[in-house]
Amino acid sequence: MTTDLLSIELQKAANSRIAEVDFNNLPFGKHFSDHMFVADFVDGQWTNLQVVPFDNFTLNPALSALHYGQSIFEGMKAYKNEEGEVLLFRPLDNFHRMNESAKRMCMATLPEEVFMGGLEALLRVDADWVPSTPGSSLYIRPYMFATDTYLGVAPSKTYRFCIFTCPVGVYYSNPPKLKVETDYIRSAPGGVGFAKCAGNYGGSLYPTLLAQQAGYDQLIWTDAIEHKYIEESGTMNIMFFMDGKLVTPATSDSILKGVTRDSIIKVVKSWGVDVEERKVTIEEVITGIENGTLTEAFGAGTAVVVSPYSLIGYQGKDYMLPETADESSFSKKIYNYLNDLRTGRIEDTFGWTHKVV
Ligand code: COI
Repeated sequence: MTTDLLSIELQKAANSRIAEVDFNNLPFGKHFSDHMFVADFVDGQWTNLQVVPFDNFTLNPALSALHYGQSIFEGMKAYKNEEGEVLLFRPLDNFHRMNESAKRMCMATLPEEVFMGGLEALLRVDADWVPSTPGSSLYIRPYMFATDTYLGVAPSKTYRFCIFTCPVGVYYSNPPKLKVETDYIRSAPGGVGFAKCAGNYGGSLYPTLLAQQAGYDQLIWTDAIEHKYIEESGTMNIMFFMDGKLVTPATSDSILKGVTRDSIIKVVKSWGVDVEERKVTIEEVITGIENGTLTEAFGAGTAVVVSPYSLIGYQGKDYMLPETADESSFSKKIYNYLNDLRTGRIEDTFGWTHKVV
């Protein structure tokens, strides 16, 4: 594959919408920054690289992404340090994962210079949209979809890659209540669970709705064969603090390889905390809550960062988790550390922060 990388064309918005946004009250995913980056894959090349005003696309009704689901995405965040510089967190990990998703969905892969060049060009023009209020960040949504107009079921030959951004605050205002799902599944061995493809999220909506109607906020997904092992929670990886160790399901072809998950594992190992990445049964989690050896359960993902859970519902019974809001909790300590790292308040000994210049 070759890349037509002559330049990224910039077309600036006539008027900025930034004054319409209350940066002290940022809902997740509702305010979109002024610009977006777009590129098209045509004739085996990425071409037509542009930063343009955020606007609607015109879509052909036969667009194959709409019919057969060749559609993948990533979630990343940018932060501001005290000098007002824009910092990205592990952007190349998202780039590599996007290409893993692309391969599984039989889509075109992206050259690093298109992904990173587009991302940096966009962030330079919309740098003012990166919030500096505590707990806020600029959520970045890179995504790609098939654009062939053909009704046969076959891999598209053309694709659009786009990146847009939105300033966001916290994802959950209160610790969510989770229900262990033992009827529906998110993914199965040999399937697409490890890929960040749109269908994984579409398929999760109905079981999640049923759980919400029963008074829960989100699901804990179990394995497709026995419903015995924990896989993920909602749209996140899941972690437990038990017996003084961090325990989390090992990744597989049915579990997303979360960048936040990996960061937490590396950070807590550097603190000398034992980490177990293995199969985790729902039974041991329930037993741990009952006998007090499991003190925290939390989700890990780009959108939430670290999200402590308040309760786990299993087979009709609710198991309360200890209150974790205070600063001494393990999940809060991880959250604060990651936040300090990403905003440049502490030295980045991992080499994860990437300054946009
Ligand atoms: C993320 O954490 O970036 C995600 O992908 C979750 C998203 C679906 C809100």
